[in-house]
This record gives sequence, structure tokens and C-alpha cells, in this order.
Amino acid sequence: MTENWFGEAVARSYDDSSGDMFAPSVVDPAVSFLADLAGGGRALELGIGTGRIALPLASRGVGVHGIDLSPEMVARLKEKPGGEAIDVAIGDFATTRVAGTFTVAYLVFNTIGNLTTQDAQVACFENVARHLAPGGSFVIEILVPALRSLPPGERIQAFDLGPDHAGVDEYDTATQSLVSHHFSKVGGGWVRNRVPFRYVWPGELDLMARIAGLTLAGRFADWDRAPFTHESTKHVSVYARPR
Ligand SMILES: C[S@@+](CC[C@H](N)C(=O)[O-])C[C@H]1O[C@@H](n2cnc3c(N)ncnc32)[C@H](O)[C@@H]1O
Repeated sequence: MTENWFGEAVARSYDDSSGDMFAPSVVDPAVSFLADLAGGGRALELGIGTGRIALPLASRGVGVHGIDLSPEMVARLKEKPGGEAIDVAIGDFATTRVAGTFTVAYLVFNTIGNLTTQDAQVACFENVARHLAPGGSFVIEILVPALRSLPPGERIQAFDLGPDHAGVDEYDTATQSLVSHHFSKVGGGWVRNRVPFRYVWPGELDLMARIAGLTLAGRFADWDRAPFTHESTKHVSVYARPR
């Protein structure tokens, strides 16, 4: 069974500890990108969480549905204005089915990596393909694995050293896995949290898409569609279901 790494303690502090990710400069381009792809159709967010993207997307008139493993994260979404109107299925997004089809499905903020096996990541693509209308799009936002910047012989890398949050990734290249260790200032104290990932290269994602009957329609360095290059540290990739 897939483990819920986003229980009550994480859900309670998620919005504060992910503060930068809620900034309009981060959220607005993602929402515009997804609204464009939705056209007049419906959107499905895998790992919808507390609604960082889903709520502003819904407020643009897009019908948004979600899947999430964590009832605690979804409870936060439901508390927010507009949250009650968003249907969320509680379950694993690699296997959980939702009624109807969607013109866009999306999985942002590195969350496909929360599936810690290749089989589960492939199953996720296959599950998305079953939910897409012909011509529909699946959008993934994920970091390029930062192995190039690991000093030789090292497996630990800090990715954030802010005043309210410190984050350290611990890589295991033998198993293609990493653990993100988070130290977040919450209230008067510090909270520690660890989340395991399977990191994955763009080319492997493309192959998973092909297994699921989807094809790469575009890859960008960010939500503003900057070109993806040798130096890009993340990518926004769009996979299309054939018409
Ligand atoms: C980093 S949060 C991202 C939440 C939201 N998408 C955002 O951008 O703020 C990851 C979310 O994905 C959910 N999640 C992780 N693995 C999952 C899985 N296998 N099935 C369903 N939800 C999952 C977690 O419960 C959590 O709410």
C-alpha cells in the first residue's frame, strides 16, 4: 500500500512551509498554462493537496477535480473559499479512477517522484491516459535530477537554506532514489519531515508516456514556456493523447 507522507503534521504546516510556492509569481503562470490547455474542458489534478493550483484554476472557470492520498491535505483544501466545490477522490493517483474524461491532467511540484518505483510511475501514466479525452494533455512539472551539482563522492545536497525552512536531499544513485529532509519553522519551533522520492530523468518519463500511449508534445524550462536547455534545472512537459 502507498504510504501517506502528508499526514496531519505536514498538512497543518504545508502552506506556510511551502510559502514561496504560493507566491502569485509562481502560481499565476502555472494556472494560465493549465487554463489554456483545459480550453473549455475539465482538469484533473493528481496530488491536489491543499489546492495551491486547483483553487486559482477553478476560479478561472475551469472545472477542477482531484485525486490525493492524504485526507488531511484535502481537508485543508476544503476549508478554503471554493474548496467545497472541488471533487476530490481519496486514493493513490497511480490507480484511482474518477468518473468522466478530462482535457488536461496535471502533476506538479515534483510529485510524480512520490511514487517510489518505476512500476508505479508507469501505472500513473497509464491511469492518466485512461482519464484523458482524445487530444487531451498530461502536464508534469519536475526537477531535473541535480546529480551534476553533487560534489564527487557526495550524496547530500542542500536545496533550501531560508530563515524558516531548510531542505536537504539525500541521493542513492544505486536505487535512483532520494529522500528530501525538511526542517520547517512552525509556530515557535522547528518541525522535521522526510519524504522519499524516485527521481526520474526526462527521457525515462517520455518512455513511460509512450508505454501509456501518450506522446511528448512540448517541453519547457518553466511555465512561461522558456526553452528547455542543457542548463535547465526543471521542466514542464506536456504529453498528448492522440485524437
Ligand atoms: C508536494 S504536495 C503538492 C500538492 C499540490 N499539488 C501543490 O502543488 O501544492 C504532494 C501531494 O501529493 C499527494 N500524493 C503523494 N503521493 C501520492 C499518491 N501516490 N497518490 C495520491 N496522492 C499523492 C500528497 O498527499 C500531497 O498532497
